[in-house]
Amino acid sequence: MAEIGVGMLGYAFMGKAHSHAFKSIGHMTWPPPLEPRLVSIAGRSEAAVSEAAGRYGFESWTTDWREVVADDRIGLFDNCGPNSLHAEPTIAAAEAGKHVICEKPLGMNADESYEIWQRVAATGVKHACGFNYRFVPAVRRAREILESGAIGEIRHFRGRYLQDWLSDPAAPKTWRLDSAEAGTGAIGDLGTHVIDLARYLVGEIETISALTRTFVDERGGQKVDVDDAFESVVSFAGGAVGTIEATRFALGRRNAFQWEINGSKGSLAFDMEQLNELHFSRGGPGFERILVTEPTDPFIEFWWPPGHIVGWGDTFVHELHHLLRAIADDSSVGPHCATLEDGYRASEVADAILRSAASGSRETISYR
Ligand SMILES: NC(=O)c1ccc[n+]([C@@H]2O[C@H](COP(=O)([O-])OP(=O)(O)OC[C@H]3O[C@@H](n4cnc5c(N)ncnc54)[C@H](O)[C@@H]3O)[C@@H](O)[C@H]2O)c1
Repeated sequence: MAEIGVGMLGYAFMGKAHSHAFKSIGHMTWPPPLEPRLVSIAGRSEAAVSEAAGRYGFESWTTDWREVVADDRIGLFDNCGPNSLHAEPTIAAAEAGKHVICEKPLGMNADESYEIWQRVAATGVKHACGFNYRFVPAVRRAREILESGAIGEIRHFRGRYLQDWLSDPAAPKTWRLDSAEAGTGAIGDLGTHVIDLARYLVGEIETISALTRTFVDERGGQKVDVDDAFESVVSFAGGAVGTIEATRFALGRRNAFQWEINGSKGSLAFDMEQLNELHFSRGGPGFERILVTEPTDPFIEFWWPPGHIVGWGDTFVHELHHLLRAIADDSSVGPHCATLEDGYRASEVADAILRSAASGSRETISYR
């Protein structure tokens, strides 16, 4: 079986999720499109990255990501670093001939995201942006139902991504609360996931009016200069209207990415905290609960018998498997996996949220 060397930047939350997924692909998706070989991982601290390399099974480690980019054993570069470290390494890896996947949000703003997409696309490598929620079986099933016409003409999209981990004012300041490292707060962290699924399920967002709020503007004596939450009203090119919101201040909501779509014939609804379930209304009162774990359901071929549910971490298995398939077969990464173009388009909407919040007026989004 052909193998592909994987180089990774970042070993913490996403580094762990992606490493775990690569290892699962090797045996759960038998036979995998390419056998992922964990070659090298980069981090800042020698002690921590060497420990992570041993734990995840990487053959080598480095404190300089440039060594990963220059490593001839590597065919796929996986950027799991903070947002400020997406552009330079991702572009450098592609220009060194490596296929790339970069976590979301793609860049610090739309200009940077555009630059990443354009420079990577010019090299001809396969490229993906880490919008893993496209790879929840129930989300893919929702897209199939929408494509079948069973919902009819889409009128509403209501998407909200609610977490609670910043509610405590004593929570420390991390890179996620610093505009120099994160770009934005809830907008880039959570909002871009909602924007991407809105685009994947409903279509392009055309206008937006939004407001942002920072509830705790100082943590541990340091200034917080990003949004804690945003609320927005959107219109879609296809005629639907909707709302998109995100916060890290919704007590009781740990990872509640919830969306609902209402069409002329029916509705669909979903909550990430019950990710195996899709709720389907065929037009009558109430919703039918569909357990998306049948052998014919998306991605379930890799897993267990019906009802033996899958989890959040498995979305990365599906996403990276899809990318390996595209590399092995020279097939398209889109439309089911987000490309760097999708990453750029989400950034345009994120920028428009900030513009609208600053101006108080509705913003029209134009895509380059
Ligand atoms: N798709 C998702 O569901 C999802 C979830 C969480 C985070 N993310 C995205 O993934 C990215 C990483 O987030 P995270 O939660 O894993 O962050 P994290 O803080 O847990 O990990 C960041 C990693 O980057 C490393 N790093 C930082 N600066 C570095 C440098 N100069 N050189 C080398 N390594 C460096 C850190 O050591 C750490 O290993 C972010 O862009 C974030 O938005 C995506």
